[in-house]
Amino acid sequence: MTAFHDPRAGLSQDQLDAYWMPFTANRQFKRDPRMLVAADGHYYTDAEGRRIFDGLCGLWTCGLGHAHPAITAAISQQVTTLDYSPAFQFGQPKAFELAHRVTEFMPTGLNRVFFTGSGSESVDSALKIARAYWRKQGRAEKTRMVGRAKGYHGVNYGGISVGGLPANRVLYGQGIEAVHLPHTQLPGMEFSRGMPEQGAELADRLLDIITIYDASTIAAVIVEPMSGSAGVIVPPMGYLQKLRDICTQHDILLIFDEVITGYGRMGARTGAEAFDVVPDLMTTAKQLTNGAVPMGAVIARQDIYDCFMEEGGPDYMLELPHGYTYSAHPLACAAGLATLGVLENEQIIKRVATIAPLFEEAVHSLRGLPLITDIRNYGLAAGYSIEHAPGEPALRPYQIAMAMWRRGFYVRYGGDTIQLAMPFTVTQDEIDSVINALGESISAVAAGTEEV
Ligand SMILES: Cc1ncc(COP(=O)(O)O)c(C=O)c1O
Repeated sequence: MTAFHDPRAGLSQDQLDAYWMPFTANRQFKRDPRMLVAADGHYYTDAEGRRIFDGLCGLWTCGLGHAHPAITAAISQQVTTLDYSPAFQFGQPKAFELAHRVTEFMPTGLNRVFFTGSGSESVDSALKIARAYWRKQGRAEKTRMVGRAKGYHGVNYGGISVGGLPANRVLYGQGIEAVHLPHTQLPGMEFSRGMPEQGAELADRLLDIITIYDASTIAAVIVEPMSGSAGVIVPPMGYLQKLRDICTQHDILLIFDEVITGYGRMGARTGAEAFDVVPDLMTTAKQLTNGAVPMGAVIARQDIYDCFMEEGGPDYMLELPHGYTYSAHPLACAAGLATLGVLENEQIIKRVATIAPLFEEAVHSLRGLPLITDIRNYGLAAGYSIEHAPGEPALRPYQIAMAMWRRGFYVRYGGDTIQLAMPFTVTQDEIDSVINALGESISAVAAGTEEV
């Protein structure tokens, strides 16, 4: 491991400038870089040799911790055996093994797996499958998608269209045809622990959308069972079931975007399992390979897959002309098999469910501190809403996250929220230290004593 004792890791300004960083304030970063050079278990090492607790598991990806020996060994072995193979018209065994393994994590009935390279690709693949499915059924007019305000479904055109972030429309303009349900952050439900008691009736807004547009024009509803990127918005009790019922009654496909909630973070194999509602299609990524190699997967109900097979024409023809150069990449498949193996063999998901109440207790202990207007949690995820600085909703979360970084903790700041995602094997001491540091950081920003 290289310790540079230099926050810029020895990089020249030209090197810093050459990289257009994603979802990053490039100008600010390049003035004052936060450079990670190594990772092990629950900690990063930064370029100055400091240990940094990973309070978001990378980007909700690395629940099993970094450099997990079983996952690194599987990838190392795979790269020397079969480093790449074409996924179109040819197969490699691990793709099939992993597809089958994924189905073991799914609710009954979701048992056909389409691999992608990321969450965004999973979302756009699922939207295409939904539209194509209706066309195969002779219902080509079912094209409209229903998303939800504050929803995040990645960065491709389908995903930003169904996503509920206004900035995307301001910057990128027209997307695909989509309308939006309201989000479920109801006033009066602040500081709910787990699922809020009120708000199921917000699902009835789907009936309003059906009244306006008619179900005959609607292909699918897509929601995150628990919104992660918007700041951990947990579904109100009964809400997802209502969405399920309305979709079933009106012949609309229900897609759960489980890119964050899939494979353990909820203390269940999926959000669908945690909230006991089964979608027709599910999108996953991130934790599927513990973040070690990019990969996503769309999981479909068998009859959706069967419909493509039955309506596929002569059997030498493609049933779904869609896929990616890196679909079912052998290294990703090896990482995925190792990850799902560890989740199951070490009973990690049970462990998540066991420590989730301790995490909840710690997370809510900050209630009453200045600036905190709401705290939400489920499984090993938590979100804090931070009172807006005048005209600048995103400023204080940024200041708080930087105060955390100075204290040796990486957490996510997004919009007016701070977000936490603990490693699945987090200890009580680690939970206490991240929450103490967060309390100190928020208090310091509130008092104006933290340098920015
Ligand atoms: C719910 C959800 N969908 C899709 C995505 C996009 O995934 P990716 O960044 O891998 O494209 C994310 C990423 O955070 C997500 O949280």
